[in-house]
Amino acid sequence: EDNRRESLMIVTGYAAKFFHDSLLETEEGKNIGLSYFKERGFTNETIKKFELGYSPDQWEAFTSQALKEGYQQQFLEESGLSVKRDNGSLYDRYRGRVMFPIHSFTGRVIAFGGRTLKNDKSVPKYVNSPESEIYHKSNVLYGLYFAKKAIREEDNCFLVEGYADVLSVHQAGIENVVASSGTSLTVEQIRLIGRFTKNITILYDGDAAGIKASLRGLDMILEEGLNVKVVLFPDGHDPDSYVRNFGTSGFKKHIEDNKKDFILYKTDILLKEAGNDPIKKAEVIREIVESVAKIPDSIKASVFIKECSYLLQIDERALLSELNKMRMAKA
Ligand code: CTP
Ligand code: MN
Ligand code: MN
Ligand code: MN
Ligand code: MN
Repeated sequence: EDNRRESLMIVTGYAAKFFHDSLLETEEGKNIGLSYFKERGFTNETIKKFELGYSPDQWEAFTSQALKEGYQQQFLEESGLSVKRDNGSLYDRYRGRVMFPIHSFTGRVIAFGGRTLKNDKSVPKYVNSPESEIYHKSNVLYGLYFAKKAIREEDNCFLVEGYADVLSVHQAGIENVVASSGTSLTVEQIRLIGRFTKNITILYDGDAAGIKASLRGLDMILEEGLNVKVVLFPDGHDPDSYVRNFGTSGFKKHIEDNKKDFILYKTDILLKEAGNDPIKKAEVIREIVESVAKIPDSIKASVFIKECSYLLQIDERALLSELNKMRMAKA
């Protein structure tokens, strides 16, 4: 109910302030958290705008302060900021991590991602808030509150994987950027973007996981009737590392030079795998027509069939008949 949601958001808002102050005003925060963010190239302006923070490396620093200030145990627990021990007492979920508050698209803090500073594979790199009455992961895009104006103006939304990608790209002056961070892209997230633009450009990490996620995302975006382009980054790079290495203009140039519509992107990736094997090539063609069959607008679909026919040197009528078969099977 609305009262409970408001109480939860008051707690998460308080926590954001606690972590932000701890980053900027405590010795531990400055020495560990702030210097980490500085090393990653984040400016004071970015740190303030996105309310980045630091959680002290103690078991109860946040929880005990919050209880002292009168915040109720019930909301601390439900927001995921505090975790209950068997004996009923609470401890901090986030300890010794740099904190990325997650804002609702109206700008309220509703959840957190906390990144470890250790280079230890046995520790999870990110700890994220659990689902709660105010945080439904599948309905949230990291950075949307700070991006929505630019998304409308540019009539395009850059979709990246992670927190740092959003921050670095935004800081580089490209503000129409959001991340699905932590979840694979959902239909709800695509519809959320669809309120601001019909055009999405996927900028996922240049590794096997990123490519796989981009192929899946692309089909989902087509199915929602939005337009999608994809930019591949060199293996080992993500948008954050790329823009830090090559600057705003290098980043923009990479996008312009490598931006592909979904047919071209899929063709490139799948044909590379198929080589000259005609059976595999036929399978590639079928997969691409399968993507086209997801497009609700049939005029748009027929334009892509033309492109596909040209790129793959396949008779357009054969592709159209395959498309119709798939459409019938779906209906
Ligand atoms: N993620 C997560 N939990 C993990 C790993 C990743 O929730 N254990 C989410 C985070 O939102 C992260 C995104 O998936 O930002 C992308 O993951 P990855 O590429 O591994 O991390 P980066 O964002 O590149 O993190 P960094 O640059 O800080 O190493
Ligand atoms: Mn709800
Ligand atoms: Mn990754
Ligand atoms: Mn990264
Ligand atoms: Mn990454």
